[in-house]
Amino acid sequence: MIRYFATCVRGMEEVLAQELRALPAHEVQIGRGGVSFCGDRSIMYQANLWLRTAIRVLRPVLTAPVHSPDELYDAARSLDWSRYLTPDHTLAVDANVRDSVITHSQYAARRVKDAICDQFLAKVGRRPSVDARRPMVPLNLHIHQNVAVLSLDSSGESLHKRGYRPVLTKAPLNEALAAGLILLSRWDSQTPFVDPMCGSGTLPIEASWIALDRAPGLTRQGFAFQSWLDFDIAFWTELREQARRRMARSLPAGVSGSDIRRDVVDFATKNARAAGVGHLVQWSVRDVAAFHASDSPPGTLIVNPPFGERLGQEADLRRLYGTLGQLFRRLPGWRCWVFTGNGEMARTVRLPVRERIHLFHGAIRCQFLRFDPSG
Ligand SMILES: C[S@@+](CC[C@H](N)C(=O)[O-])C[C@H]1O[C@@H](n2cnc3c(N)ncnc32)[C@H](O)[C@@H]1O
Repeated sequence: MIRYFATCVRGMEEVLAQELRALPAHEVQIGRGGVSFCGDRSIMYQANLWLRTAIRVLRPVLTAPVHSPDELYDAARSLDWSRYLTPDHTLAVDANVRDSVITHSQYAARRVKDAICDQFLAKVGRRPSVDARRPMVPLNLHIHQNVAVLSLDSSGESLHKRGYRPVLTKAPLNEALAAGLILLSRWDSQTPFVDPMCGSGTLPIEASWIALDRAPGLTRQGFAFQSWLDFDIAFWTELREQARRRMARSLPAGVSGSDIRRDVVDFATKNARAAGVGHLVQWSVRDVAAFHASDSPPGTLIVNPPFGERLGQEADLRRLYGTLGQLFRRLPGWRCWVFTGNGEMARTVRLPVRERIHLFHGAIRCQFLRFDPSG
């Protein structure tokens, strides 16, 4: 059994743990900003293909106390790197350092890279080269309280980059965070899902994928583990085939998005097409004030209104959040959720908060709030 660590947005660890248990991974343990789990190589492939809330899946290969860059170098050099790469591979080390004697993350990353390359030079006279942009073997170094954990990064590019969003609008939600919000909302896929301020369409697209049981990794170009020495291409191809067979062709209930800006709705429509759900998700141009639910059973509404980081927007924002409160009152029986980084504005919705979940969007502390439409 191999131990892995899947990272996620802070606050999303419990949802990620549930996803891992469903894979099923073994010995699932919640950590800070991620979840560790055990399994054989196949569970790592499945984790990359199926996890909706993970950012990357790491395979730790070394844990060592380090109090200086030289100690870090020696620890990294003590590992037999020929088990993981050859001089023909490219590599890059991504480091983050917290509460430790070593404070300079880039220097720490360089020492690890030097240790690996020096080992190859000493043994075979050739060394792997560095490719900072698209390394074949990306490595992750995490130093916390003078303990270094060095991991192979099996994902490569962050898993939130599903491959369907070529067009970026302002302030889009990270896809992994959007999927996590939907899972946190406990939407059952059998009732309607709407986002009346949909921007680039991340929430409705992720909702449709959840309802279709579509693996979030199917659309991606590739994963770092495909360059690893032990990559099992036959097994990986079979896993992808199984995922394609598992996917439903139609949605059990309506999934829709609307936004006040036509250009933004055009982007969302294009993104949905790239995500393979262009024919399934409904899009429209509409002011949230004019939003009304069609003759459908009550469903789930998730909205991510502007936070308003710029000055001079308060009055407009206050009106907008007030409008949301009025809208929710017109939707009895619906589960209405707001994701915002602006706690002050959330109060102007003027409805009781039934659930409050704290999360991070990048560095911004955010809240995911369920309001009670019955007031
Ligand atoms: C923070 S962005 C949403 C980002 C989106 N979740 C995504 O993933 O791209 C807020 C969106 O609200 C829209 N918006 C602002 N005022 C609106 C209004 N009165 N009615 C509907 N949409 C509005 C903006 O056009 C913008 O796309």
